[in-house]
Amino acid sequence: NGASPKGPFVPTQADYQKVYDAIALRLQNETDYDDGSYGPVLVRLAWHASGTYDKETGTGGSNGSTMRFAPESDHGANAGLKHARDFLEPIKTQFPWITYSDLWTLAGACSIQELGGPSIPWRPGREDKDVAACTPDGRLPDAAQGHRHIRDVFGRMGFDDREMVALIGAHALGRAHSDRSGFDGPWDFSPTVFSNDFFKLLVDEKWNQKKWNGPTQFTDKTTQTLMMLPTDIALIKDKGFKQHVDRYAKDSDVFFKEFSDVFVKLIELGVPFQVKPEDRFIFKASE
Ligand code: HEM
Repeated sequence: NGASPKGPFVPTQADYQKVYDAIALRLQNETDYDDGSYGPVLVRLAWHASGTYDKETGTGGSNGSTMRFAPESDHGANAGLKHARDFLEPIKTQFPWITYSDLWTLAGACSIQELGGPSIPWRPGREDKDVAACTPDGRLPDAAQGHRHIRDVFGRMGFDDREMVALIGAHALGRAHSDRSGFDGPWDFSPTVFSNDFFKLLVDEKWNQKKWNGPTQFTDKTTQTLMMLPTDIALIKDKGFKQHVDRYAKDSDVFFKEFSDVFVKLIELGVPFQVKPEDRFIFKASE
């Protein structure tokens, strides 16, 4: 594919499905990483690219992929995301027509689907911006804080309590790395499977403060192999949040549906789309 004599190349849904398939194939092949999948760190890349959005000024968000540049790439919250960006470089080389900002969000959607999560309807239209559009440090949440900070940060993006809880349920995936955030360990026993286990464990387990030299985090009484961040524990300490934790712990289908809706909203914050919401693509997952 490329420019045709009739004019510039205009990618169709089928072309974006090819990008999806190439990411899915690479996920299947590159298993020599962490718990065997780059999926979780790709979800984190899509989230950190999007979660800089500020509804008052309309700045930040996935439109721009300014995390390609310092200073944003060096923000403490983004430590380790180079693994995700580098993983996607061969895909960008194979499909040079896709913008980084579309690619990063598509890779997040692909990873959620490939790891057994809900469909994430997706539409193209993001443009890459230059270094001048980098957002200031401090827009992403700090895991050492509590309920007030969660509401401040996610409120600035335009989310309500229910949406905040649903989004943080992505912590069913992946792990914390002591050399990235300072925290350490996975949230559940299957960090490469998307599920409502994060909520089940929050409700069913007893969480004690971990005794170590690192930052304050919590560990499960039963196995002492899992972890929760202070912000995760805030979800069961705060009444407004806890009701949604309970709902999602009880009903995986409800969590999958509400997570899909709010993840779509997250990766679309501040993007001036040409494609209408009803024309979003539903990508076919691999076998
Ligand atoms: C990992 C904090 C919300 C997805 C992490 C880590 C921290 C963190 C400290 C560990 C990073 C590392 O050491 O590698 C927070 C805080 C949040 C939040 C404070 C909000 C209060 C979210 C949201 C999503 C998300 C909204 C996605 C929708 C992930 C994923 C990982 C992760 C998938 C695992 C990455 C990996 O395995 O490399 N988060 N997070 N987080 N976060 Fe969050």
